[in-house]
Amino acid sequence: MKMNELDPALHGARRARLAQAMQAGVAVIATAPQRIRNRDTHFPYRFDSHFYYLTGFPEPEAVLVIVAGAQPRSLLFCREKNEERETWDGFRFGPKGAQERFGFDACHPIAELDAKLTALLGDQPALYYPVGADATWDARAMGWLNAVRANARAGVAAPERVQDVRALVDEMRLVKDAHELGIMRKAASISAGAHRRAIRAARPGGYEFELEAELLHEFRRNGAQFPAYWPIVAGGANTCVLHYASNDAALNAGDLVLIDAGCELGGYASDITRTFPVSERFSAAQRAVYEVVLAAQAAAIEKVRAGNGWNEPHDAAVRVLAQGMLDLKLLSGSLDEVLEKETYKRFYMHRTGHWLGLDVHDAGDYKRAGKWRSLAPGMVLTVEPGLYIRAADDVPAPLRGIGVRIEDDALVTENGCELITAEAPKSIADIEALKRDAKHDAG
Ligand code: GLY
Ligand code: MN
Ligand code: MN
Repeated sequence: MKMNELDPALHGARRARLAQAMQAGVAVIATAPQRIRNRDTHFPYRFDSHFYYLTGFPEPEAVLVIVAGAQPRSLLFCREKNEERETWDGFRFGPKGAQERFGFDACHPIAELDAKLTALLGDQPALYYPVGADATWDARAMGWLNAVRANARAGVAAPERVQDVRALVDEMRLVKDAHELGIMRKAASISAGAHRRAIRAARPGGYEFELEAELLHEFRRNGAQFPAYWPIVAGGANTCVLHYASNDAALNAGDLVLIDAGCELGGYASDITRTFPVSERFSAAQRAVYEVVLAAQAAAIEKVRAGNGWNEPHDAAVRVLAQGMLDLKLLSGSLDEVLEKETYKRFYMHRTGHWLGLDVHDAGDYKRAGKWRSLAPGMVLTVEPGLYIRAADDVPAPLRGIGVRIEDDALVTENGCELITAEAPKSIADIEALKRDAKHDAG
C-alpha cells in the first residue's frame, strides 16, 4: 500500500469519533521523533502509531490537535516547505499541502505549536495527551497549562483535567475497520510467503542469517516498509531461547529451525512463527513435540470466537500442552496437578497471544474491571503456543534442545475466526512436502 492511496475521509472519521468520545477539551498527539542510531546516522523513520491512526500523515515533526465540542476541529502542525532541506532529504507536504491532502480543518507550521495551544486551551475543561509517555512532552504540556494560567487575570480559565488520550484511542484501535483489515491481510500474506521462502532455503551447512536475509528480501520486494520486529531465526538448541537475537549460528542436519518473523506494511504488523527441519524430515522426537504444539494451537484457535473471554484460547492451549508434557515424560503427576501447580511453565512460560495491529503487541486492554475482556468481531490477535525443552539431566535425552512455536494471526469473526496467515504451511506433511519441492527444484 502506497502512502498516496490513503483516504483522508477515513482518518477524518476516526478523529471525529475521538472528539465525540472526549466530548469536550483539547487533544494533543505528537508523532514519533527521528531517532539517532549513532553519531549523525538515524534509524529508519517510523511514525507514532496513535498519531498515524488518526492522521495518515507520514512525516516527522508533526502534531495533531483536536478541539472537541459541538463542532469539533482538527489541526495539524507540521514542517514548512523548505527547498534546501527538500533537496537533501526529500519532499515535505508543508502546512498548505497537508491541509489539501489530509483533510484537516487547518494546518500550521510546527514552530507555532506552543503559541497556538496556549490560545486554544483557554477556557477548555481538559487537556488530553499521552501522559507520561515522554518526559519532554510532559514538560511541554505543563508549560502550555502554565501559560494559560498566566492569563487568569484576563478572565481565561486553564483546563482543570489532564487525561491520557491513549485510553480512548487504544479502545478505537482494538477493533479494526475494513481498511485496516485489507492491509493486515496483505501484510500476513507477504509474511507467509517469506516463511515459505525460508523453509525452502534452509539447508545443512547454511547459517541462520541466510534465512534472515531471505525473509527481509521477501518482505521488501513485496513493498513492506520494515520488519514489524527483528526476525528470530533460531536453529538447534537456540529454538529454546524465546527472544533469540543473534541469528548467526550454523544450521545442522537433523536440527529444527524456529523462525518468528513478520513484516510491517503501511504501518500494520504481521507476526508468524513456524518451526521446521533444516533437512527434509522431522525426527521422531521432533515430530512428537511438534504434534503437541500443533494440537494446542488448534484447541486455542477453536476458542477464538466472538463472546469468548480473552483467556479461553490460552487456557485451552495450556491444557493440551500440559497433557503433552505428561505424555512426553517431561513431567509426572496428574493433569490437574500440573495445571494447579503450574509446573508446565518450565516448558511453556509465555502467554498464547496478544493483540495485533499498528503495533505488533497492539493497543487495547486485556482485562476490564478485573475481568478478561470478551472477544468481538474485528479484533485481531495472535495464537502462538510453544514448547521449549532446554537440555537437562531430568529430561528424556531425545527431547533435549527441542523448541517449537507455531504462531498465526487470527481475525475474530461473528462465527469463529479467520486465520489471515494460513498461507504459511504448518502441518508436518505440508512442511515436508515444501522441503521436498525445494530439493527437487534445486536439482
Ligand atoms: N514476535 C513477537 C511475538 O510473537 O510476540
Ligand atoms: Mn506474537
Ligand atoms: Mn511472533
